[in-house]
Amino acid sequence: MAAQSETMEKIVALCKRRGFIFQSSEIYGGIGGFWDYGPLGTELKRNIKDCWWQDMVRNPPPGPDGQDIQMVGVDCSIIMNPKVWEASGHVGGFSDPMVDCKACKGRFRADQVFHVPLYRADANAPFAQLSVEADDEQGALAAAEARGTKLSKKHGGGTFVARPLRVSEYFEANATANKNLSCPKCDEIGTLTEPRSFNLMFQTHVGALQDVGSVAYLRPETAQGIFANFKNVMDSTRVKIPFGIGQIGKAFRNEINPRNYTFRSREFEQMEIEFFCNPKESMRWYEYWRGVRLKWYESLGIKSDKLRPREQTPDERAHYSSACIDIEYLFPFSDEPQELEGVAHRGCFDLSAHGKHAKGKEDAFAVIDEETKERFVPHVIEPSAGVDRFALATITEAYTMDEGRASPEFMRFHPRLAPIKAAVFPLVAKDGLPEIAEPIYRAIKKHYPVQFDAKQSIGKRYARMDEAGTPFCFTVDGQTREDGTLTVRSRDDASQTRIAKEGCLDYLRDQLGL
Ligand code: GAP
Repeated sequence: MAAQSETMEKIVALCKRRGFIFQSSEIYGGIGGFWDYGPLGTELKRNIKDCWWQDMVRNPPPGPDGQDIQMVGVDCSIIMNPKVWEASGHVGGFSDPMVDCKACKGRFRADQVFHVPLYRADANAPFAQLSVEADDEQGALAAAEARGTKLSKKHGGGTFVARPLRVSEYFEANATANKNLSCPKCDEIGTLTEPRSFNLMFQTHVGALQDVGSVAYLRPETAQGIFANFKNVMDSTRVKIPFGIGQIGKAFRNEINPRNYTFRSREFEQMEIEFFCNPKESMRWYEYWRGVRLKWYESLGIKSDKLRPREQTPDERAHYSSACIDIEYLFPFSDEPQELEGVAHRGCFDLSAHGKHAKGKEDAFAVIDEETKERFVPHVIEPSAGVDRFALATITEAYTMDEGRASPEFMRFHPRLAPIKAAVFPLVAKDGLPEIAEPIYRAIKKHYPVQFDAKQSIGKRYARMDEAGTPFCFTVDGQTREDGTLTVRSRDDASQTRIAKEGCLDYLRDQLGL
């Protein structure tokens, strides 16, 4: 674990040094749970979103019977009519931050459980740690004193000082540690989960008046924009069930405990598909999307031994969901794989809820199968992925340390995701070499992101490109003037070979496969 967190520290340092990720508003001390992407990170994220859009919306893999899959895209507003969030259950259901006890299954409001270490007046270390349920600090003190006196007697008596701390604040201060926390009901230690807020939505006001009637929310998921437009899409295009709608966009959640770098942020991007199908065929489509989504990560360089598909148990699933798989990835910051994406069978929950709330009938969005004349509210399979989580997985997967190399730290990005695909260098910034290199750079620039660099030693320039994860560097040298060849250096094995200077673009096309 120590080695893992060391790796994470190196990755975070490289991300800042090379302009992948910065802390948001860093000059003012930052703001928890918000991140900015620098020049390289922005290209990386753009590549991720472009790959997803191309592979899932424009050209999804053939269906279970080899058929073409119908997919279209939408780009919905971030702020929607608040009734959307009432219908979806986010307003009512996402209420207070709760902690659960894994041992006794008790559930408590995180702001109403207090952690109370008990000290004897003359000691620095607590002799016991309690959790008590109370409305406020005074109540917590009273409850702790009642129990603490008994405990104190057991430990030889004497006075004690109790300093209650809300469990929600405790987790803010101790990012990962629940090991000293006990359950207020069964007293087991280390069994409380982190607080999970069910009112994650950021509120705002629409219009000049800031009253109850003008409250609106920043969307906590992109999915509801798709459901709200289900009929618009069906009416305005020629898609028929089964078909899917994809959307990429920002989502906002006021996470209680943003942590693990960008993994859990308060502002992030999602790539979501809602795939609408006949209820009778829904399990087939669920299996289709589960397979498609797993293969997609593998196709972009995520190694299968770090990728863990995990079927949720019936207890974990939402009540309307008949199947759900979390696609998890083993990040260096944790011993346990963490969720990259969920593929959920949502039944007809969302369309029925919007039918009921918007039109007064649960089956308002029912469709009729033209062949069988069956009428049904479509069932939905939802592959829902996080752009930022995949960016983080891509970065940690690409990070490679090889002490045997002149530039030991480098990023082995998949070519499709690499922010810069190539660099063009004159070996020295004189002797006519920049004049030969510049036209090569300009020719590549029309097709691929490429950089030109004529400064510093060639070793340093290679090292910079290795850190950026650039797959190939073309170097113009003295020999180029004589025989028209230049060297191509490969990022992954640092090998060099000579090719004709006119062949750079074709070489890149061949090697990158793009
Ligand atoms: N529409 C379903 C939905 O939103 P979710 O599991 O809450 O499901 C889907 O979110 C994906 O969005 C997650 O698998 C994760 O990749 C990403 N995600 C969710 N919360 C996030 C957060 N706080 N920070 C970064 N990514 C997050």
